[in-house]
Amino acid sequence: MIGPQRFARFVTDAVVRRPVLWHVFRRPLQRTFDRLAPTWEARIGPHHLLALELALEEVVSPVRILDLGTGTGVVAQALAGRYPEAEVVGIDLSPAMIEEAREKLPPELAPRVDFQVGDAAALVSSDGEFDLVVLMNMIPFFDELVRVAAPDGAIVFSYSRGDETPIYVPADRLRRELGRRGFAQFAAFSAPPATALLARRR
Ligand SMILES: C[S@@+](CC[C@H](N)C(=O)[O-])C[C@H]1O[C@@H](n2cnc3c(N)ncnc32)[C@H](O)[C@@H]1O
Repeated sequence: MIGPQRFARFVTDAVVRRPVLWHVFRRPLQRTFDRLAPTWEARIGPHHLLALELALEEVVSPVRILDLGTGTGVVAQALAGRYPEAEVVGIDLSPAMIEEAREKLPPELAPRVDFQVGDAAALVSSDGEFDLVVLMNMIPFFDELVRVAAPDGAIVFSYSRGDETPIYVPADRLRRELGRRGFAQFAAFSAPPATALLARRR
């Protein structure tokens, strides 16, 4: 039996190469993360947000922020704390993760942070709705990402354990996929073992 980390890596590699395969893996991956949800935060190390924080220093005052694959909402909470004027939407495939995220959300952030069950491969969000889209250890679905990012918006990918993160996509692949879709500015950040890549259209 393949463990959750190897399964997540396998699905990531397969879906980034052939997004059409997602429908095969969607349910099994959701069940995997439903099972992990109650103990998820025990897996998160102190380095988790370090590279993401470096990348965010380059992103000034976003108003609408999307945290894709929000899990228990650790990143969504950090974003709401960093940008006190912003509204943050955290989306996750796993209902159990979203339940945890809602329970853990401090009441003072509740008016600005909304957690929703959803699939990053088929978002209900409008075109260009978000000034900032963040994916922390999350499988990218490039067409949807690009669709919901505002024309002058930013996308940040971060991997808490760099290329050892189970859900990991190499930076050259991210650049290539986004370059094909009109993104032209990239900046890489490292706070070992964490890495991040910031992408913009112009
Ligand atoms: C490795 S966890 C990371 C959670 C969180 N970003 C963090 O850093 O703690 C990946 C999360 O992405 C979610 N996920 C995977 N595929 C997804 C999809 N297509 N749409 C939305 N969420 C997805 C999983 O349910 C899981 O909660």
